[in-house]
Amino acid sequence: MSVVARQLARDEDDVIAGLRSHPKRLPCRLLYDAIGAELFERITQTDAYYPTRTEQALLDAYLPAIAREVGPRARVIEPGSGAGIKTRRLLAKLDHPASYVAIDVSREQLEHTATRLHQEQPDLEVEAIAADFTRAFTLPAPRSTVGRSLVFFPGSTIGNFEPFDAVAFLRRFQRFAGPRGLLLLGADGTRERDVLVRAYDDEQGVTAAFNTNLLAHLNRARGANFDLTAFDHRAVWNELRSRVEMHLVSRRAQTVRVGNESFELAAGEPLVTEYAYKHTALALRSILAAAGWRVREVYTGAVHPMRLWLCESASTR
Ligand code: TRP
Repeated sequence: MSVVARQLARDEDDVIAGLRSHPKRLPCRLLYDAIGAELFERITQTDAYYPTRTEQALLDAYLPAIAREVGPRARVIEPGSGAGIKTRRLLAKLDHPASYVAIDVSREQLEHTATRLHQEQPDLEVEAIAADFTRAFTLPAPRSTVGRSLVFFPGSTIGNFEPFDAVAFLRRFQRFAGPRGLLLLGADGTRERDVLVRAYDDEQGVTAAFNTNLLAHLNRARGANFDLTAFDHRAVWNELRSRVEMHLVSRRAQTVRVGNESFELAAGEPLVTEYAYKHTALALRSILAAAGWRVREVYTGAVHPMRLWLCESASTR
């Protein structure tokens, strides 16, 4: 098992550039430091946050069928592996998987998940890459001969990116997975506004703590001086764009400093931290097609518009 640090040192300027834009934005990858990763796991256990439970149920129902499509000795590549709970279920259902590649920005969580998986399945070749999967990075070649490669991308993470960016990195994953490569993607669809907003603004305030931690992270990592009590968490359903928007709203007029730069915030001005696009089946199909993935199967539950998409590389090379 090896952990490789790649691309973690990066142009820091996306923070400054985001704070200079209108509306002001902060990069969502900064939500996932060690504390953020832990808070996110707590979000997935709240009553309000339905996507995790719904997706687990779909995986339980359809993994046997999916495993038959994937075949023996697969290589599983997982961008944004997180705590690896779904990964374990997937690997348990596959026929003697040969290799697992975890990619995540949260280094602590990555090491923890990879080490645990390696202990549980000593025959599995485990690689961990500390990287932002939206950026270019190289994938290590498998050490042993493997069957098909499967990119595993659950958790509606696809919705956290602008469609244009989503196409770009799905395309890159298509190259990693090779000519007979497969993609298993899990994504939530549109539903009633209230259910959506509650999922991103739970009553216990876990999501609020998760969102606010981004500012604490900037204070720690970038010497910023955000006053954590001066911002309110807010989730907004943007119907036109079909996305939930996560905001941190400035409670008063204030000046914040990040490194040597200062920024003025008006009372009530939002900082946009993350989007959760709720793609219709049609929208997701066009993203997949633009990224070179051909849809083989769509697995849907009875109640919720959450879907698992099994796709195959459209390239014949
Ligand atoms: N991929 C998750 C989603 O879109 C991420 C997420 C859940 C999230 N809750 C959040 C991101 C709250 C920011 C704030 O559902």
